[in-house]
Amino acid sequence: MAVTLEKPVTIERLIELLNIDLELEYSAAIQYINHSAVMTGAAYGDIIKELKIHANEEIGHAMILSGQIDYLGGSPTVEVGPIHVSKDNDEMLEQDMEGEDDAIKRYKMRIEQAEQIKEFALAQQLRNILAVEQEHAMDLKQALGR
Ligand SMILES: [Fe+2]
Ligand SMILES: [Fe+2]
Repeated sequence: MAVTLEKPVTIERLIELLNIDLELEYSAAIQYINHSAVMTGAAYGDIIKELKIHANEEIGHAMILSGQIDYLGGSPTVEVGPIHVSKDNDEMLEQDMEGEDDAIKRYKMRIEQAEQIKEFALAQQLRNILAVEQEHAMDLKQALGR
């Protein structure tokens, strides 16, 4: 059976998609800053520390994506994606988990798209980001007791 590959993306389309990723990195950073500030309870001490680390790592991802978008000839967005808040600790962790699952899906796709058009350095940067998102997902899974 033939492998079904999506049509290779154009560089213009890839820049658009990377800008969506960038918006979502900004919103992830803000969401983590908010959640780490409002989350309470001794049992959540460890994950609160992790959320603060995640916030900084998402900013690092925004920095990498902005640089790559500019390098590819695009304009890095300053728009911010949707941010999810809650008063309940576990609901906050679920919101963060959803964001990470979505990021993992998007970056896996983005790596393939970058390779399709031979943007191998971009693909490498995206792989590094993907590895960090997977660590974020693991931290959240552990905190949620899964
Ligand atoms: Fe990220
Ligand atoms: Fe993340």
